[in-house]
Amino acid sequence: MQATQPKNYIDHIHNYDWLAPFHAKPITAQTLIDTAGRDCESLNGRWTYAVDQYATALRAAWYREIDRFEGRPIPPDYDFAAWDEITLPNSWNTAKPELLYYEGCIAFTRTFGYQTAPDERVFLNFEGAQYRTYVFLNKEYLGVHFGGSTPFSVELTGQLQEQNRIVVVVDNTRRDTHLPMSNTDWFNYGGIYRDMEIIRVPQTFIRNYEVHLVPDGTFSTIAAAVTVDGAQDGAVAQLRIPELEVDTSIELRDGSGATTVRAQPELWSPDTPRLYRVQIQLKDDAVSDEIGFREITVRGTDVLLNGKKLFFRGVACHEDSVTGGKYLSEQEIRHDLATARELGCNYMRLAHYPHSRRTARLADRIGIMLWEEIPVYWAIDFANPATLADAENQLTELICRDRNRASVVIWSVGNENPDTDERLSFMSRLADVARSLDTTRPISAACLVNHVDNRIEDRLADKLDIIGINEYFGWYDPDYDKLPQLFRNSAPDKPVFITEFGGGALAGHRGTTDEFFTEDRQRLIYERQIAAFRTIAYLSGISPWILFDFRCPRRTNAFQRGYNRKGLLAEDKTTKKLAFAVLQRFYAQR
Ligand code: GCU
Repeated sequence: MQATQPKNYIDHIHNYDWLAPFHAKPITAQTLIDTAGRDCESLNGRWTYAVDQYATALRAAWYREIDRFEGRPIPPDYDFAAWDEITLPNSWNTAKPELLYYEGCIAFTRTFGYQTAPDERVFLNFEGAQYRTYVFLNKEYLGVHFGGSTPFSVELTGQLQEQNRIVVVVDNTRRDTHLPMSNTDWFNYGGIYRDMEIIRVPQTFIRNYEVHLVPDGTFSTIAAAVTVDGAQDGAVAQLRIPELEVDTSIELRDGSGATTVRAQPELWSPDTPRLYRVQIQLKDDAVSDEIGFREITVRGTDVLLNGKKLFFRGVACHEDSVTGGKYLSEQEIRHDLATARELGCNYMRLAHYPHSRRTARLADRIGIMLWEEIPVYWAIDFANPATLADAENQLTELICRDRNRASVVIWSVGNENPDTDERLSFMSRLADVARSLDTTRPISAACLVNHVDNRIEDRLADKLDIIGINEYFGWYDPDYDKLPQLFRNSAPDKPVFITEFGGGALAGHRGTTDEFFTEDRQRLIYERQIAAFRTIAYLSGISPWILFDFRCPRRTNAFQRGYNRKGLLAEDKTTKKLAFAVLQRFYAQR
């Protein structure tokens, strides 16, 4: 990938623009393939790796495996086969103790056999890698993906041989131009921490699709839209939902098609998480998914699920594991969701970035509604067009991934951002992008509160369907009376969720309610907050911060020791604190 023919084999050390050629090949939502119901060949398993602090794998193009220069052998600075072993997916921070706080590049590689089938197209799908991911196959550069929490697909067609070597360089360096930027209140994990799968498709295939209930209050019309590759205008895809006796065609033009069909599905809800098998066929390609049909709408200050007002009994949650970092096994995800159900939740705020695809799939089955969010967190570089493009792409990848998930009921475009004109423009644009991709879900964000006048006031609220507010009365602000006053001082014309409240406590640390980090004080915060909620007329939902303690390098006092301690359970995800029972009793009555 040298911009010009090198004068000698170490020319790269003088090459100032070594990154530019790589960033000229972005992997974006445009190539994302929906994997639901597809046979995939996993690339998970045994890889080798090298910590590459100076990004030499990119600078010196190790992936090209140059071993001679001007006819003579040269001494390599890498050895793919002799590098240390690592089992992927994982977060390198927890997989290798010496890498806990490592930030930078790590080069991963493995070989794999492949038998090409006639007339196929082949893609490699990454479910998630944190943050910049550079992909190389058989000495060729394929592209780079920005974003640590959304899937991406890169085409391999024509590049595969019987034996192949893949090299993936992952760079988790925090940067202010990134999304999130360099300062957050969670741990900066790194690595290929979600599945990698090879997907084979015919020349004419279904790239992605959406199937949902038309939110018109009749609960009797299903809409479907497909995006395809390789189909002639006039070709027809077939939509089948056998249990609803739906078998209808979708005519394709310019690579897409849409239809609506009458049906009377049993509606999905947390109490009745009914899913239907949906199949879409296009010539030799077929995809299938389990999809729930429900309607989520707002009316005045209420949120309606299937036409009925609902209070969202929630809790916030990070994608964080003591043993796996940002990698969570299906078993741990199931445990996290089950713990929320035990608390009495019908809803979870997945903060502050897209969690695993598995989380929404399991929530569909278990019956928990989800708030999903992209990491437009705190002081993003709102004036930077590249940062906006990154945000739009991550939002598009999230919505394309999860728009068929009945459990996902709210898209959030950010959290606690400074109220500047650039921020307003940036996040208004994101709300517009979300609505252009999905007309069936409300858009929200954790907005600002005017603390001087103690009023809900955020210019962004006009662009949202639901207003989220984070408040910490009893923790960062000792005056509990401000909470009911805040709502009395405000008159929003749309639903309001308290998207964060709570306080820290070290599990097992008892004392007075005046002391920080005692379980006793955290319990009092929940008691006083709940007492205030009972007096507020137009509160539609709450998601206290947070279900479990989580790693956070900014939290260093004797009680925190590198963890944010606002969890209702400790980081072991089993030790409950006193406040858990307080909230559980409140939810049991709602
Ligand atoms: C903020 C922020 C969270 C953070 C929390 C806290 O509201 O949204 O990400 O962890 O407060 O201070 O613990």
